[in-house]
Amino acid sequence: MRAHQSPRLRLHPIKPHDESRVDDLLDRLNTYSLRVHGVPKLKDGAHRLLTTTPPVGMFGGKYVFAIMHGIEPVGLLDVIADYPKLGTTFIGLLAIAEDRQGAGLGRAAFWLAEDFARTQLSSSHLRLAVVNTNSVGGFWRRMGFVETGEVCAYEGLAARKSDHDGKANSAGVEYHF
Ligand SMILES: CC(C)(COP(=O)(O)OP(=O)(O)OC[C@H]1O[C@@H](n2cnc3c(N)ncnc32)[C@H](O)[C@@H]1OP(=O)(O)O)[C@@H](O)C(=O)NCCC(=O)NCCS
Repeated sequence: MRAHQSPRLRLHPIKPHDESRVDDLLDRLNTYSLRVHGVPKLKDGAHRLLTTTPPVGMFGGKYVFAIMHGIEPVGLLDVIADYPKLGTTFIGLLAIAEDRQGAGLGRAAFWLAEDFARTQLSSSHLRLAVVNTNSVGGFWRRMGFVETGEVCAYEGLAARKSDHDGKANSAGVEYHF
């Protein structure tokens, strides 16, 4: 049983004004930020995470959670309901604080996200995009995702010198329940 493997992990909703809670966790995600944004921490990262929604089209709602391990916040989850289409939940971010990675919390948090999408948002699909400067494709494959083959230019700050063309791309991956 999944619940028995991670009895203490739960999702705690974060209100849009509660930037300090997000900020504290972003302080523990510097490597992720460097890979994706090109800087250890964005000045307005918490505000962005709490307010950024899809640029075009319709979606059902945005939900941001602190991932809690007992009373300790260990990560962040940002999901968009019914995006890019009805019945699909888009994972904007699933992140475990760097000091807590590699101990199964990412998997347990994903199971919570999956359960939330299925039971609270009535979703039958999950989708997300992986920025190519962030080497986490293997994690998502372990979680059962497959690449959709779609690649689009990433419009963030991740124009990194190591990329051939100085630009970052993001690739879509998808998971069907
Ligand atoms: C990706 C992330 C959530 C994984 O969390 P974690 O707690 O370290 O992962 P877990 O310990 O639960 O690992 C689960 C499995 O995935 C594998 N895995 C974890 N990170 C991996 C990676 N970067 N590449 C390949 N496999 C990975 C683990 O080896 C483990 O495999 P197993 O099934 O053989 O045991 C975490 O590295 C993270 O928060 N990164 C920064 C934010 C980010 O990039 N999020 C994804 C973009 S939305």
